[in-house]
Amino acid sequence: MTGGDRPHGPPRRFAVLVSGTGSNLQALLDRAATGVLAPAEIVAVASNRPEAAALDRARAAGVPAIALDHRSFPSREAFEDALLAALAPHAPDAIVLAGFMRVLTPRFLGAFPDRVINTHPSLLPAFAGAGAIEQALAYGVTITGCTVHFVDAGVDQGPIIAQRAVPIAPGDDATIVRARIQAAEHALVPAVVRALAQGRISCEGRRVVVVPGGDPDDADQLL
Ligand code: GAR
Repeated sequence: MTGGDRPHGPPRRFAVLVSGTGSNLQALLDRAATGVLAPAEIVAVASNRPEAAALDRARAAGVPAIALDHRSFPSREAFEDALLAALAPHAPDAIVLAGFMRVLTPRFLGAFPDRVINTHPSLLPAFAGAGAIEQALAYGVTITGCTVHFVDAGVDQGPIIAQRAVPIAPGDDATIVRARIQAAEHALVPAVVRALAQGRISCEGRRVVVVPGGDPDDADQLL
């Protein structure tokens, strides 16, 4: 069992997987520090890139930071086994992919059934996969956004939990659009994590139901 002593209730102990800058991780850590994320807590951060700045953000927040270079493992499965083993002492019961640039196999996903979420920088199912912002600009859409979704065996195909739209104006480049999308993600990802921990999100097939939180004093209360 990976979920500590709460196998049947909502997840509370979230591990965050990262590969890069970690601005979404920071949004989670900041809210955890001020109590806004409760009852969710961030129990560990792991990266497949040891040099990822996101790991420094975790260390600065006093959260265990795990570096596992996927290139030093002979196979995807061996990497995932090592990742599961490294996470186990922290007893996470859910996983947030926040800029984690490795596809996870059913081997890893099976350890956290329906409890792995991802944030993707497009309005899925448009522009799945790598380079979503560049894809959107090349296609010429005038609205894009971000999607927080459950992760299944397909790439960026799992049930959608929440989305936010972001405009693209003539002349906008990828840097501008990325900043706009990330500002939306920084509010939406923590809101989803908290709603999950509060047991307000359920999933039947592809249909995700979110029970509104209804806290009028909370600017982050997007869900
Ligand atoms: C985020 O914008 C996230 O949507 C994207 O990586 C960024 C990570 O930024 N994820 C993907 O593209 C996954 N396909 P961050 O490291 O600053 O949080």
